[in-house]
Amino acid sequence: MARSRRRIIYLCQACGHESPRWSGQCPSCQAWNTLVEVEDAPDRPSWLARDTQGPQELTAVSQAAGQRLLLPGREFNRVLGGGIVPGSVTLLGGDPGIGKSTLILQVGAEATRLGPVLYVCGEESPQQVRLRADRLGIAGAGLLLLPETNLRVILAALEERRPSLVIVDSLQTMYVDEVPGAPGTVGQMRESTLRLTQYAKARDVPVFLVGHVTKDGAIAGPRVVEHMVDVVLYLEGEAASTYRLLRSAKNRFGSTNEVGIFEMGEEGLVEVENPSLAFLAERPANAIGSAVVPMLEGTRPLLVEVQALTSPAVMGPPRRVATGVDFNRLLMLIAVLVQRAGLSLGNQDVIVNVVGGLRVQEPAADLAIALAIASSARNTPVDPALVAVGEVGLSGELRSVAQTERRLAEAAALGFRSALVAPQRRGTRAAPPGLQTKEASTLREAIRLGLQTPSRRGEVSSPSVQPPTDAGQSG
Ligand SMILES: Nc1ncnc2c1ncn2[C@@H]1O[C@H](COP(=O)(O)OP(=O)(O)O)[C@@H](O)[C@H]1O
Ligand SMILES: [Mg+2]
Ligand SMILES: [Zn+2]
Repeated sequence: MARSRRRIIYLCQACGHESPRWSGQCPSCQAWNTLVEVEDAPDRPSWLARDTQGPQELTAVSQAAGQRLLLPGREFNRVLGGGIVPGSVTLLGGDPGIGKSTLILQVGAEATRLGPVLYVCGEESPQQVRLRADRLGIAGAGLLLLPETNLRVILAALEERRPSLVIVDSLQTMYVDEVPGAPGTVGQMRESTLRLTQYAKARDVPVFLVGHVTKDGAIAGPRVVEHMVDVVLYLEGEAASTYRLLRSAKNRFGSTNEVGIFEMGEEGLVEVENPSLAFLAERPANAIGSAVVPMLEGTRPLLVEVQALTSPAVMGPPRRVATGVDFNRLLMLIAVLVQRAGLSLGNQDVIVNVVGGLRVQEPAADLAIALAIASSARNTPVDPALVAVGEVGLSGELRSVAQTERRLAEAAALGFRSALVAPQRRGTRAAPPGLQTKEASTLREAIRLGLQTPSRRGEVSSPSVQPPTDAGQSG
C-alpha cells in the first residue's frame, strides 16, 4: 500500500544527486548521461510493522539506545566515539584489498560475546570466510554466515534469527527485486541501505555495511549512501605500508577526528600500542632530510617523521612529489623557502614523504616539512633530538598551533630533548620537563636553529665515548 505513494526520481550514478526531472547533465557534478530513473524510497517501511503510536514524551523514550556495545579492542571503540550504538548503521569504506573484510570479521567475532552475529557474505563464499577466520585465529562460535545478495532473503533471515549485530559485505553486491539496475548501481545501493537502516532502527540492532571506494571516487561508490547512515568509517593505508588507519568521516554519535591505528599482518589487523614509537622505530640517526613533527590525530598526539630529498633536476622543469602531504601545500612551502628563506630550489627536484603511509593534513606540519627540505638542500642534518611544529605563513612567518603543550608532552615522553616552535602566547604553560623549547618567529630563523651547524655536529657526537675501533685494523 505504501507503493502507491512512490514517485519517480532521477539519480546521478556518479554523485548520487537527486533530481525530480531528467536532464542530460547532472546539475550537481556536471557529469553527462549519468541520471537514471528510479522509484523514490517509500516514506515508511511497508515490509515491517512498526509499533509507534504517534508522538511520545521525551522522558518516556527508552534510554536503552544510549548503552553502547564495547568491543575488547580500544581502537575500534575509539573511532566510533566510545563503542557501537544499538540501532546504528555504519558504513566501512576503503580501497579493495585494504583489509575491510578482515577488520569487520574481527569485529564480528568480538561482538559474538554480546549475542549471535549475522555476517552476510555477498562477495565471498562461506569457505573463503572460513579460511580467513582460520588464519586470524577466530573460532567462530556465534558467527552466522549467510551467502546471499537478495535483500528480501536477507531481511527474512534477520527477522528469523534476530542477531545482535549484522554485517553486510559488501553493499555493492546487494540488490532489491523491485529496483531496476544491477547490484552496485546507485539505485540499488540506496534502496538496500534504506531497508537495512529501517531494520536497524526498528530492531535496535547495529548494522555494518562494507563498501569499496576507489581512489578517484569512481562511479557508484558507496559515498552516495553516506548521508543515509549514522557513521562513515574509512580504512586507509599506503599499499607498500602495513599500517592501516581507520578514520571516521561522519559520526552522529561522536567526534570525527578520532583515528584508529592498526598493523596488517598474517593474523589480521593488530592494534598498534604506541603509534609514535612504531612510526619512529626505523628513523636513522642524523639523517639528512628528516624532521619529526608532533601531530594531533583526533585527541591523540602522534609523532610523525617527514622526509625530503632534493636533487638537481636532470631534464625539463624540476619535479615536486608529495606523498602523505598536500601537493599544493608543498608548492607553497617551496615558494616560501625560496623567497623568504633564501634557498635555491628553482632547479631542484623536491620529493617529500611521510613515513609509515601516514598523511599529515594539519598546517602544524609546515615547519617540519620545510625543515626537512632545507636539511636536504643544505646537506645538513636536523638535530635528531628535536621536534618541530608550526604553521608557515606566506611572508615566511611562523605561527603557533593549537594544543602545543600536548604535542610537546608526547615528544618529551619519547625522549626528544628540544622543540622548535613559533613564538608562544604569553601565559601558555612551559614545556614539559626535559624538553627545551626554541622559539623562532621566521622560517629563516627556524632553519638556523633547527639544522645542526658543522661545529655543533661535532659537539653532539663527542660526548658519547666510542670504544676504540683500531684493534681489528692493527691485527
Ligand atoms: N596470509 C596473509 N598474511 C598477511 N596478510 C594477508 C594474508 N592474506 C591476505 N592478507 C592481507 O589481507 C588483504 C585483503 O584483506 P581483505 O580484508 O580481504 O580486504 P578488503 O575486504 O578490503 O578487500 C590483502 O591485501 C593482504 O594485505
Ligand atoms: Mg572484502
Ligand atoms: Zn552527479
